[in-house]
Order: sequence, then C-alpha cells, then structure tokens
Amino acid sequence: MFGRRGVSGPSDPKAPSPVAEPAPSSPAPASSPMPVEQTTAPAVQPMEEPVSPDAVAPPEAPISVEKTVPEPTPAPAPEPARRQAEPAPKPRRADYYDIKTDVFSAMIDTIDLAQLTRMDNDSAREEIRDVVTEIIALKNLAMSIADQEMILEDICNDVMGFGPLEPLLARDDIADIMVNGADNTFIEVDGRVQLTSVKFRDNQQLMNICQRIVSQVGRRVDEASPICDARLLDGSRVNVIAPPLAIDGPTLTIRKFKKDKLTLAQLVKFGSITPEGAAVLEVIGKVRCNVVISGGTGSGKTTLLNCLTAFIEEDERIITCEDAAELQLQQPHVVRLETRPPNLEGEGTVTMRDLVKNCLRMRPERIIVGEVRGPEAFDLLQAMNTGHDGSMGTLHANSPREALSRMESMITMGGFSLPSRTIRDMITSSVDIIVQASRLRDGSRRITHITEVLGMEGDIITTQDLFVYEVLGEDAKGNVVGRHKSTGVGRPAFWDRARYYNEENRLAAALDASTVEDERMMA
Ligand SMILES: Nc1ncnc2c1ncn2[C@@H]1O[C@H](COP(=O)(O)OP(=O)(O)OP(=O)(O)O)[C@@H](O)[C@H]1O
Ligand SMILES: [Mg+2]
Repeated sequence: MFGRRGVSGPSDPKAPSPVAEPAPSSPAPASSPMPVEQTTAPAVQPMEEPVSPDAVAPPEAPISVEKTVPEPTPAPAPEPARRQAEPAPKPRRADYYDIKTDVFSAMIDTIDLAQLTRMDNDSAREEIRDVVTEIIALKNLAMSIADQEMILEDICNDVMGFGPLEPLLARDDIADIMVNGADNTFIEVDGRVQLTSVKFRDNQQLMNICQRIVSQVGRRVDEASPICDARLLDGSRVNVIAPPLAIDGPTLTIRKFKKDKLTLAQLVKFGSITPEGAAVLEVIGKVRCNVVISGGTGSGKTTLLNCLTAFIEEDERIITCEDAAELQLQQPHVVRLETRPPNLEGEGTVTMRDLVKNCLRMRPERIIVGEVRGPEAFDLLQAMNTGHDGSMGTLHANSPREALSRMESMITMGGFSLPSRTIRDMITSSVDIIVQASRLRDGSRRITHITEVLGMEGDIITTQDLFVYEVLGEDAKGNVVGRHKSTGVGRPAFWDRARYYNEENRLAAALDASTVEDERMMA
C-alpha cells in the first residue's frame, strides 16, 4: 500500500464523544433489508391496515391525477435534453368522480380487504381490477374503455399505492418530487423545478399517504412526531414534515432512486466535465487518493461518488456507510452499512459515527461515507490517515475552501477539544483531492473544481486547482455558457502515487490534452 504523507492524527482517538448528535440535515432513512426497529411493516406494500381511511373514504372532491403513461426507464435523463413539458392530464368526463365514488363504495362492500393485505402487490391489484370490472358491468355503467381504465388505475392507486403520487413515482425522468400540502406538487426534471397538476383530495389524504410510506420502515408520523425520514421500497429517499411544524399541510420530499445510475461517461456527454477531466478523476479513483466530494443540495455529489467508485479494483474490500443506501457499487467485495434512526420510543439510534468507527474493525481497504455531516468527519479522516487510502465521502459546501472549513467545524462541533492547527494538520494529511459539484442557475450540473490539498503554510491550508469551470455568460435560452479549463498544473501532488500505480502516463496525457485544448480556445 502506498504510504501516506506521514502526519499522524491526534494522539487521542478516544476523544470525548460528541456533545450532541447533529440533527440530520437531509433525509436519513432507515434500513432496507434489515428492519429498522421491530417493524410492523406489512408484507403487502403499503396497506398497513386492511382498510385505510383513504380507502374507505373515496374522493369527494376531484383528485386531479396526472395520467402519464409510466415511461419505460430509458437512458438516464440527460441534462442537455432540456426540460420537457409536463404532459397535460387527460380530460375526465364531468361525472367521473361521482362514478368513481359509486364504484369505490361498491368495491369496499364486495372485496375482502383482509385477504388483500396478504397478497403480493401485483395479485392484489389484479383482484381489485377484477372486482371493479365486474361492478362496472353489473351496474351497467356506460363508459368508454379509456374511462374504465382510468377508474381502475385510480382505484388501485388509492387502495394499494400512494394515490395521486403513483404516476409520478412511475416516471424515471424525475429527480425529486416535492409535495407542499394537498394542492401543490412540484417535480424536478432535467434540473428544472416545475409545478404539476397533481392534487390530493385534502391534507388528510396526503397525511394518510405519508403515513403509509413511513409505516413501511416501521415509523410513524403524526403531531407527536412530525418529522420522519423513510424510504420507498424502490430505494427512493423520503422526508415528511407534518403540521404543526409544516404550516401549510404535510410536506413530503422524495429523492427518486435512479435505477440506472449515471456514469462518468454520461457526465462527459452532458458537459458536466470534459473527457480530460474525467480521465483525471478516473486516475484519482484508481490510485487510491482520498477524496472529498463537496457540493450543495442536489448538486450531484452522490452521483459523482458512485461514478468514482467504479474505478476501484475488483479485489478491494469496500465498506460503505450511508443514511440511505443510494450507492450502487459493482465490485464483488462490498459491505453496505446504513445508519438507524431512533425508534418510536426515541431509542436505538445508530449514528454515522458509530458505523464509521465500526468499519475500522472490519478490515476495510476503502471506506466510503455517503454523507459526512457531523463528528464522523473525525473518524473518516483518521481512517484516511491510517492506511485506508482511497476512502471517500461527500459533504455539503459551496467551494473546496468551504469544504475544508466545514470539516474543521464538524470536528470542533463534535466536541473534540483539539487545537485548530491540529485539526488542519489532520485534514491536510488525510484528504488528497476535493471535487466540487454544483447545480448552476439554469439547473445544469457541473463539476466546477478538481482541487488538490497540498499542505500547510503557517496556519493556512494550501490547495491547488487542477481543473476549474469558468462561467462565460448565458445563451438566448437562459442556459449557462461556460468551459472547463485546466489550470496548467502538469505535475499534481499525487504524481508519485500515480506512478506507483502505473497511471502516470494517462495522468500526464489528460493534463497535457486539456492544456492544449485551453490554448486552442484562447487563440
Ligand atoms: N451531472 C449530472 N447531470 C445530470 N443529472 C445529474 C448529474 N448529477 C446528478 N444528477 C441527477 O441529479 C439528481 C441529484 O443527484 P444526487 O443525488 O447525486 O445529488 P446530491 O448532491 O447527492 O443530493 P443531496 O444533497 O440531496 O444528497 C439525481 O436525480 C441525479 O441523477
Ligand atoms: Mg446525496
């Protein structure tokens, strides 16, 4: 293994534990395969109780459900394919909701809801469809095939799924779904946030749906515990904050899980990074640099982390620690760990710090921390500094400089009484590279810096940019125009490390090529 730059961490690894666990700043759901606590999560997807209040009370007021045909998961939503307008909801006949209410009541009387809960999702939906079709035939309702299909789908969604959210959940081009009370649902598509026509009957229906979602991971959301993180079965991250904290009704935020994760090659295609920049990132991943990925909310940090992990060798033992398992590592030897929120009694929390500390006893070669946002920063730096080269993590910061000071303040606030100079020494001797991700004002995502952490000059940490993104202006459509440029550094500080891993030629070629490119652009 390649030796570290030789500064050892503070001599007291058993420093006092944090004063308080920092409140999670982003959704931090529970575990997936292993239950979070003694979960009462039902086997059948969202039906916790046989008859949910939602299900019994059919919609009185129109629920405008956007009936998009679920898109068949094409290639990941490309950034350049700028905003596609939300498909207009199909018109419904005037008496649609009366008929639906009528059919719904008849169905509740007919169907054995208890039995339904014991079925798997597909069979339960099939059962509902059979009963509803029969009711429509018996009642002699004159309906077009299309209307009948719409009613069938709506009723299935109301009983089995997440009601009006279902069509949005079925789409793979949506990055985030943001529900602000019953009447306002926004989505983010291609980096742009847009209002949809999805509406819930009322806040109670929305609250019931939130309840169903969180009950899947054995949690509860109500006035007594109005904040809750959870996860959908497909891995999407969910946060719910309910009244009285959320003033205008239950507020639900879903970061949709992307089945096909973006690759570095796709990021190049979208213009998030140049091919040369990507080649440098590939070398960084391969030669076991310790990397911190910094960026704002939704700037693409996790995506980038996932891309970088693709260059880890197959024979390395990798341990990932996340709040919600989002990373999709392809290597065979991966151990995935997840934090655990407190149970209903407020007990049983397992923090990120607990996980990172435990990792060290698991013979890891690389430790990957999904998001560093508290005192675990100390443990990750320790790990990076003690032979676990090639460890990585993301954190929230708007520039590489800010990322350094964030790390320092996370350690200070964690209750470690270390002099600032010691913490900075520890950071410089641990972190090799900071990669900065940004979401620009036009919604596009770019890698704006690849920066090396060099050392200390006096009390100041010195850094060196290898690549930066420069904003040049805006085109007629409001899209940001800019370019990535190399700063002309021919021999980065990790050069020796690259040589050690036989990657120096590739590194030199990528750096040279981008310098040539720059000169050509300047000419
Ligand atoms: N370079 C990119 N081009 C296009 N889309 C991207 C890019 N990077 C990320 N995305 C998309 O943006 C969304 C947010 O990405 P990601 O989850 O990686 O952000 P994040 O910074 O980790 O967010 P958070 O702060 O909430 O954890 C995802 O849907 C992802 O597919
Ligand atoms: Mg993330």
